[in-house]
Amino acid sequence: MGINVKSNHKDLSANKSRESQPPSSIKNTMKNIETLQLIFFILIIVLCIIIASDDNEGDTLTTSTILRDGDKLVSASGMFALGFISLTNSSAKRYIAIWYNKITTHDIVWVANRNRPITEPTAALTLSSNGTLLLIGDSSSTMYWSSLTSTIIDDINVTTTNPVAQLLDSGNLVIKGANNECIWQSFEHPTDTFLAGMKLGHDLRTGLSRNLTSWASPSDPSPGPYTGGIQLAGVPQLGITEGSTWFWRGGPWIGIGFSGSPETRGSHFFVITFISNAEEVEYSYQPIGNKITRLVLNHDGYGQRLVWLDPPGQWSLFWQAPDDHCDQYAYCGVFGICNASNMPMCVCLHGFQPRHPVNWALMDWSGGCVRKTELDCGRNKTGITTDGFVPVTAVKLPDTSVAVEDMKLELDACSARCLMNCSCTGYSLANFTDAGSGCIMWMGQLYDLRVYANSSQVFYLRVAASDLVSNKSHNRKATAKVVSTVVCFSIGAFLIALDSSEEVNMENTATNTDMDLPLFDFGTIADATNNFSEDKELGEGGFGPVYMGKTDDGQEIAVKRLSKSSTQGLDEFKNEVMLIAKLQHRNLVRLLGCCVQRQEKMLIYEYMPNKSLDTFLFDQDKKVLLNWQMRYNIIVGIARGLLYLHQDSAVRVIHRDLKASNILLDQEMVPKISDFGLARIFGGNEAKSQTKRVVGTYGYMSPEYAIDGIFSVKSDVFSFGVLTLEIISGQKNRGYYVSQNYYYLLRQAWRLWKEGNAMQLVDETIENSYSVTEVLKCIKIGLLCVQERPEDRPLMSDIILMLTSNNELLPEPKCPGFVAKAESSSSKRESPSINNVTLTITLGR
Ligand SMILES: *[C@@H]1O[C@H](CO)[C@@H](O)[C@H](O)[C@H]1NC(C)=O
Ligand SMILES: *[C@@H]1O[C@H](CO)[C@@H](O)[C@H](O)[C@H]1NC(C)=O
Ligand SMILES: *[C@@H]1O[C@H](CO)[C@@H](O)[C@H](O)[C@H]1NC(C)=O
Ligand SMILES: *[C@@H]1O[C@H](CO)[C@@H](O)[C@H](O)[C@H]1NC(C)=O
Ligand SMILES: *[C@@H]1O[C@H](CO)[C@@H](O)[C@H](O)[C@H]1NC(C)=O
Ligand SMILES: *[C@@H]1O[C@H](CO)[C@@H](O)[C@H](O)[C@H]1NC(C)=O
Ligand SMILES: *[C@@H]1O[C@H](CO)[C@@H](O)[C@H](O)[C@H]1NC(C)=O
Ligand SMILES: *[C@@H]1O[C@H](CO)[C@@H](O)[C@H](O)[C@H]1NC(C)=O
Ligand SMILES: *[C@@H]1O[C@H](CO)[C@@H](O)[C@H](O)[C@H]1NC(C)=O
Ligand SMILES: *[C@@H]1O[C@H](CO)[C@@H](O)[C@H](O)[C@H]1NC(C)=O
Ligand SMILES: *[C@@H]1O[C@H](CO)[C@@H](O)[C@H](O)[C@H]1NC(C)=O
Ligand SMILES: *[C@@H]1O[C@H](CO)[C@@H](O)[C@H](O)[C@H]1NC(C)=O
Repeated sequence: MGINVKSNHKDLSANKSRESQPPSSIKNTMKNIETLQLIFFILIIVLCIIIASDDNEGDTLTTSTILRDGDKLVSASGMFALGFISLTNSSAKRYIAIWYNKITTHDIVWVANRNRPITEPTAALTLSSNGTLLLIGDSSSTMYWSSLTSTIIDDINVTTTNPVAQLLDSGNLVIKGANNECIWQSFEHPTDTFLAGMKLGHDLRTGLSRNLTSWASPSDPSPGPYTGGIQLAGVPQLGITEGSTWFWRGGPWIGIGFSGSPETRGSHFFVITFISNAEEVEYSYQPIGNKITRLVLNHDGYGQRLVWLDPPGQWSLFWQAPDDHCDQYAYCGVFGICNASNMPMCVCLHGFQPRHPVNWALMDWSGGCVRKTELDCGRNKTGITTDGFVPVTAVKLPDTSVAVEDMKLELDACSARCLMNCSCTGYSLANFTDAGSGCIMWMGQLYDLRVYANSSQVFYLRVAASDLVSNKSHNRKATAKVVSTVVCFSIGAFLIALDSSEEVNMENTATNTDMDLPLFDFGTIADATNNFSEDKELGEGGFGPVYMGKTDDGQEIAVKRLSKSSTQGLDEFKNEVMLIAKLQHRNLVRLLGCCVQRQEKMLIYEYMPNKSLDTFLFDQDKKVLLNWQMRYNIIVGIARGLLYLHQDSAVRVIHRDLKASNILLDQEMVPKISDFGLARIFGGNEAKSQTKRVVGTYGYMSPEYAIDGIFSVKSDVFSFGVLTLEIISGQKNRGYYVSQNYYYLLRQAWRLWKEGNAMQLVDETIENSYSVTEVLKCIKIGLLCVQERPEDRPLMSDIILMLTSNNELLPEPKCPGFVAKAESSSSKRESPSINNVTLTITLGR
């Protein structure tokens, strides 16, 4: 409207000035009048615009106005807007959000009702007279959100009069009371975006924390698993956590920036302020000039600093964390240090050696490092220690949650102080500005060190006197015999070098290691799979889709493509390549090569035309094709493959995810174990391990693994037992709670066995051509494998003996694990947890 008015009047005045031709003496007066007219018109226009937009486009909400769906508040300069949005085109879920209004991408920076989307069209945002913003439904019965739900007001008088809510140009929604005092502000309740002027951290007086919480997914703003902010333990650190574990650690503030985030030194876009005192620990930033920048914690846990560049009018990624492998928390384990430009990336700190040399050589760094020589500390009763320090240069300082800080201590005094305390493992400057000042001392194990090419940070590591001198002839390269090298990846990836230096004490050093893993070209793979077309997709593997392909020379291949986003997948991918390249057996799927190009990571296997065992076993039409002899051969084949993994290969491998869909069948129906993404390698003398991250498939998991995360060869034996019973019965063992029938197959097998009716378990589609003794032997072996206590289960070598000999003198099985309490005849110890087991399984699904 305003624009039409404007142009009409302009035309009018232009015509006028052309029609009349006044003498030059009065020309000026006329001009002045015209100018006045113009100003007058413009004033009217501006007024029109203000009036027109007053009902829904001001920047304030008062107790007498209501914001309904379709209305919005726009900040004074138009930078930000607040209103109702949906996150998908079709969604009926509406949210109150603040977004960039001026920027064409309209990125959302804050969501009010992230926990409770609006589901009725008539919901409205109102300001109650006590200064509370309320987002309520039609009947006023549904409160979707209120500004009180996320704050505690105790020092503010709620009897405030005439409150107003205003959207500021900073993107902050503030509620102000009668005296203009701030009652509430959205900046104190951040969602996933950190804007200039906000503060992340802790108000130590009120105990209020401000941190970012990721969205659950790009279309779901409800709180996701990741939190970004300042962690207070020890010396405060910036970082991103997933639950109680670090996802990425930005480290302590060291004057010039955060130790683990060199980018935070500022730039010509923004300056950072960090305040740490008795009252607050707070991180904030301000843009330089009129630069637009934001920091966002993405749904996948990645923190990103974005800067708006105009031209070309788009967000530019200034920084991202985690950014490389070394950014993954404690990638190299305890006392290890990560160097992203080195191969391998992890080495032990000076004076330390790998805890598990074999795993270390195979690039499983999780075990970390141990001291070569114990510290003298504590043994020398004179109180004077012979320990000393070696500088570790150009680093990100270790995790300071075990550290203490003293800003007044000079570096020399810091060193002396550290030596006096037995738990002190190292120290560094606390403030690296100018000449440096202050002191941080680490009082425990050191985690998450990494190398930065340009860092000025030095960490002083405490070592025993004998490790003080760096011994050049101790250099690994001088003595290392590289037994095998599988060159697979280019830069930034990894080499497989089984390093049999004197540190590696393997019972059985790799024997068959003379192989080269061919590198496939991306184009070749793309061609072979019709550009990864959907109709070539065979299914989903452990970490991404699997495609069928045919190379130019007619060879059929299966291509496993690692999903790009998953870093977990990347580790598993590496694990798998390392393992498979080493393992060669008739009953293991053969790796033909790999492809790492254009951020793609793929594994190329021999193609198995008969797909996986489950496609036969659990298919009413196809299971008929599996007669007893074939089933028996499959059981024996799997057992042989597993025995090779457990005992006969160069390294001990525990598969951890043995199941019917991971058994592939070749043309002759020879079974091949596949999917080593979850497998773990064990040192020769290691028998079992424990993990916090229980991976695998319910239904095949042994009790001790599912409950306590303990896995050993005996957990694979359990899975083998389940698989054997499945092959015999043609039924799936369901690991979840179905009307009391959890672990149904095991219960049924055990019941029939006890009743002497074990033959009833046999799949009825098997024709009567089987040997009853063979079937009974297999059922018995299956039951022995699924015994509750790992000690009661046989080893794979025993199983091969049982299977291939005619010896019927097998031990009698007891009640299997995961079978109902009433039927449990053996261990009392486990019975109270039966409910817990079921619960775990139910929740786990
Ligand atoms: C939503 O609609 C917009 C505009 O019509 C379109 O560009 C976009 O692709 C749609 N998004 C989805 C997920 O359908
Ligand atoms: C303010 O008013 C709303 C509704 O009128 C009420 O739900 C809320 O409890 C009040 N807050 C306080 C602090 O009294
Ligand atoms: C709240 O208001 C009452 C009455 O106006 C006044 O006496 C009291 O001091 C106020 N309290 C605060 C914390 O401002
Ligand atoms: C994040 O902030 C919330 C709200 O103050 C707090 O409850 C939570 O403990 C904080 N989380 C972390 C990891 O600091
Ligand atoms: C670090 O040192 C610089 C220069 O001495 C000083 O200006 C700054 O305030 C110090 N920072 C901290 C956090 O102490
Ligand atoms: C990291 O690795 C690179 C490449 O091997 C090497 O040049 C550099 O010196 C290493 N940095 C440190 C601090 O060890
Ligand atoms: C204990 O300290 C004394 C004094 O420095 C030194 O002479 C002695 O060798 C130390 N003893 C041991 C066991 O390190
Ligand atoms: C060593 O440091 C720890 C942590 O600061 C402290 O608890 C302990 O008392 C210190 N021990 C000695 C002997 O000073
Ligand atoms: C590293 O240091 C060199 C020399 O001091 C400097 O030119 C370069 O810009 C630095 N690189 C980074 C990424 O800071
Ligand atoms: C250096 O290493 C060599 C060989 O490993 C060893 O014989 C020698 O004693 C070491 N020297 C020192 C000072 O540790
Ligand atoms: C694959 O894509 C490329 C480029 O997009 C195209 O040239 C080629 O013809 C495609 N190949 C197949 C088999 O679709
Ligand atoms: C789970 O087991 C623990 C001990 O193992 C027991 O204390 C707890 O009550 C059990 N929970 C349920 C729900 O049975």
